[in-house]
Amino acid sequence: MSQNLRIALTKGRLQDKSVALFEAMGLDCSPIQKPGRRLVHTLPNYPLEAVLAKAPDVITYVEHGVCDLGIVGKDTILEQGRSFYEVLDLGFGRCRFALAVREGSDFYDTYKTRRIASKYPNVTRVFFERKGMDVDIIKIEGSVELAPILGLADGIVDIVETGATLRENGLVPIEEVAQVSARLIVNTASMKLHKTQIEDFIGRCEAELEKRRNQA
Ligand code: PRP
Repeated sequence: MSQNLRIALTKGRLQDKSVALFEAMGLDCSPIQKPGRRLVHTLPNYPLEAVLAKAPDVITYVEHGVCDLGIVGKDTILEQGRSFYEVLDLGFGRCRFALAVREGSDFYDTYKTRRIASKYPNVTRVFFERKGMDVDIIKIEGSVELAPILGLADGIVDIVETGATLRENGLVPIEEVAQVSARLIVNTASMKLHKTQIEDFIGRCEAELEKRRNQA
């Protein structure tokens, strides 16, 4: 008898797209679509349990092996790193990390140490280290666009999807830091212990992604 695999899905922006991918792969996701207060959902026609979690927790659960698989944004992977296999770029949840400043300000026109606000201090640190530029990084938990408006920071490093949040707050992107999209990650021990089941799941994902590429 095959044991159920368990997958952690990122709640919010990536959730619906993950479910749409699974449905297209032939997995009945009705339990996830009407979750109520239940946290673990068993799929009726495929040996898979799904849990919904915040992005950083998806990585924690996969890393500790309580979930075999996870779907999480590359933004969280770049920020948290750590150890698991990143096996597939799922092609959705596309956006980018950008350095943005107040419109009209000349970010590089000074020798003063610049202050950068971000929800992603590690991504920010690595970006400026590669440039050989010394900056002060201020960790902000949300709506980071406020920091330059209030005068707390000279710039921000944040996710830009449509660009609307920057525009509506008088900010402009001046440099791309990294491209982001949803990734399928796998616990390193699970990859060996449940090789056949995980390969079947990855194969189904790949087949659907290939179909999408051919339709595009
Ligand atoms: C993200 C990001 C930007 C916004 C960008 O925030 O931090 O604020 O989305 O999207 P746009 O380019 O389409 O406008 P999120 O909605 O996740 O909320 P938060 O800032 O409160 O974390």
